[in-house]
Order: sequence, then structure tokens, then C-alpha cells
Amino acid sequence: MPSSSSSSFGSASNSSTRAATRLEQVSKQMASASSSASHDVWHSTPFAPPDAIFALTAGYQQDSFDKKVNLGVGAYRDNDGKPFVLPVVRKAKQILAADDTLDHEYLPIAGLPSFVKATSKLIFGADSPALSENRVVTIQTISGTGANHYGGAFLSRFYEPWLGKSKEEKKIYLSNPTWANHKSIFNSVGLTPVDYPYYDPKTIGLDLSAFLDFLRKAPKQSVFLLHACAHNPTGVDPTREQWKEIAKIFKEQEHFAFFDCAYQGFASGDLDNDAWAVRHFVSESIPLLVCQSYAKNAGLYGERIGALNIVASHAGDSEGGADRIRSQLLILQRQEISNPPTFGARIVGLILNDEAMFEEWKRDIKTMAHRIIDMRKKLHELLVNKYKTPAPGPNGWDHVTSQIGMFTFTGLNPEQCKAMVERGHVYMTGNGRISMAGLNEHNVEWVAECIDKAVRGQL
Ligand code: LMR
Repeated sequence: MPSSSSSSFGSASNSSTRAATRLEQVSKQMASASSSASHDVWHSTPFAPPDAIFALTAGYQQDSFDKKVNLGVGAYRDNDGKPFVLPVVRKAKQILAADDTLDHEYLPIAGLPSFVKATSKLIFGADSPALSENRVVTIQTISGTGANHYGGAFLSRFYEPWLGKSKEEKKIYLSNPTWANHKSIFNSVGLTPVDYPYYDPKTIGLDLSAFLDFLRKAPKQSVFLLHACAHNPTGVDPTREQWKEIAKIFKEQEHFAFFDCAYQGFASGDLDNDAWAVRHFVSESIPLLVCQSYAKNAGLYGERIGALNIVASHAGDSEGGADRIRSQLLILQRQEISNPPTFGARIVGLILNDEAMFEEWKRDIKTMAHRIIDMRKKLHELLVNKYKTPAPGPNGWDHVTSQIGMFTFTGLNPEQCKAMVERGHVYMTGNGRISMAGLNEHNVEWVAECIDKAVRGQL
């Protein structure tokens, strides 16, 4: 018995030794697996460069130079360089804060109904036939970026001429240059971004003939992204007559117009005026969609409030009908974010639906647009009269006043832009774009002096 018990003890202790050894082995394996996992599973992740626009803001914030200026990101600042909360937005927030009936439930997948209805009216116009015929499908999005993303994703899945096509064949034509994020957004949803000629560096203006020629030669039913107004980054917009020529070719070639409208009201100070191109295309029955953002015109950068509008050929749920399109957009929204956020939608919804607040908003937009126009004049005057700075184009510095919207494409070359940032502490993108909204009476002299020195190679 003892021996058997000892043997049984012995076997128990042997087996517990074996178990301990096994455990040790397993835990070693696990440790090595987890350490190799932490090494290996991300092993091939390439290092991505920082975002060109937001890296400038980070650089600016770290800079201790007292005359530093941020002309990088397109965000409106007041005359003291401070972020601007629109008075009408302040009022809307107070109304919302005092409203005890508001809860924190989910919004419908398409977004806040009062916002969704009003936002399409804002872009297409109250008397739009597309609206009265119930052909417009609108969903609330995460600002203009979200709208671009959904627009691209929707085309990638459902645009008839692309069905069964590879990524390489699904080409979306973008103006050269365009907002830096466009390429990245469309690449991420299975499209291939391709440049079309738009800006002429020699004239610092629109290269209309090259653009029209390209439109004519592109395969039928090509998809072109158009900036509805206040082209980013150049500030160069077609005139109404030029838009008409562009629309004519769209119609002949059956091209699809992908409008990005991030600056309605900001170009001319007038909401209807800035929607003219979109409304003209609708009146010509050109197939299109429109992305909207309230970041700039309502100063709601962080609230991420925007919309995507797709115009269908007819209402209802038959093939190609608006209801079918809506059903698929709802799926897309649900997959990506489930339901859109409430706060920005409530603010904009209030402003768009209340007559007095809407009028006040229009005044706020004019305040912003006109301060920018004043800064254009001031910068132009300093470069021309005070510094007599050699101009980069044939029309002197007139592009500073003739370009519209938030940006001026200065014509400075990459080396001069680098000097502006590194030695002038004037933060601007390397393509020569400056955000006019960052200029004010206190810093415009310094900026003009830096531009002058950069152009003369003395900065
Ligand atoms: C810009 O172009 O500076 C703005 O639209 C901000 C952004 O998201 O890039």
C-alpha cells in the first residue's frame, strides 16, 4: 500500500511536475507568440506622412515666434485671429440648451428630418423642380468629408456604367489641383482619381480651353468632381457663361457631375448666388450629386454637419427611382456610422427653418465674406503699392483680389512657400495656397513683407 500510495503519490507528483512543465512550455509559447505578435502583426504597416494641412496647424501651435501667422487650414478667424462663433449659432445653442423636450435618442438613419429637408432646399432652391418632383435623395453626413466618402462609395457600388468594372476602370476626374483629401477619400472607396486640367499657373487663372477639351475627349458617362463655388485650393471659379459651356459638354457627353459644395455663401456672400452652378446643372437634367458642408458657412467645423444629395431621374421605387437610391444610402449610413450625430443638425436645422434666424445667418455670412474681401484688397495694396513686389503672373497681383472664397493661390513656388513657413513663420501649404481667413489688420503687413522677401529670395 505505502509503495502503491507512494507510487501513486509519486505518479501524482510526476504528473504534476509534467503538468507544471507543460504549463511552463505553454506560457513560454504564449509569451513568445504574444511578443512575436506585437512585433509581427503590424510588421508591414508603412509609415504615413502627417496630413499636410493639419501638420501646419500643429507646427504653428508649437511656434513661439510672436509674429507667427497660420494661413494653412481653411478656418475662418476674426480680426483678432480668434475662431469665430457666429452670433446666430450662439443664439441657436441657447435655444437648444433651454429646450427640455430634447433628448439623446438616436436620430433616424437618414438624419434629423427638419435638417435634411431644409438642407436640400438650401442648395437646390425652394422652387427646384427636382425637389417638387421628389427626385432628390438627401442624407445627413459627417460634414463634407463624409458626404464625399458616401458619394464615392455609392457610385462605386451602383453607378450603372461602372457595374462589373475594376478599380482602375472606375475613374473619378478631379481638377488639378484639388483639395488634398479628395484623392485619398476616393482611393479608399475603390475609385481611381485622375486629374483633369483646370488651373493655369502661367495666368494664375482658369485654363478653360484645356478643361473643355478634356471634357469633350473623356469617355461618355465619365464622373467629374466639380467645386460648386470657391474652388479649393485656387479660389478660381468659372464665370456663369463658362459654367454654361461646361454644362453643355456634360450634357452632350452624358457625364456625371459630382459637386462638392463646401463654401456655399462664402464665395460671394450670397447663398443663392453660390448655388447657381448646381441649379443650372439640375435645370439641364445632368445626372449629379451634391456634397454639402456647414463647417465654413456656419463656422461648425467640429460639429461635422453636412449632407449628401443625389438627384434621381424620377421619384418612387421603380428602377432608378429616388426611393431605391434612398434605401441603399440608408444601408451605407448604417454600415458606417449607424445614425448621424444630433448637435450640429439641430443647430443648422433651427437656423434654416426659422425665418428670422435664417436672415441673421445670411448677415453673419456676409460679415465673414466681406472681411475676407477687405483682406484681399489690403494684401493686394501692400504688395503692389508699398512693396512693389515682382508678381508671379502676367496680371500683376490682381489674382489676390479676383480669386474668391477662403483661399488665394498666391503663385509662390514650393521653395518660396518653405521660406515663408521656416523663416517668416507664416504657415501655408507648399502649393502656394494661403487661407485669407487667417489674415487680419494686425498680421497682413507682416505677411506682405514675408511674401515680398520670399519672391525676391531674401527671406
Ligand atoms: C482646408 O482645405 O484647409 C479645409 O477644408 C480643412 C481640411 O479639412 O482640409
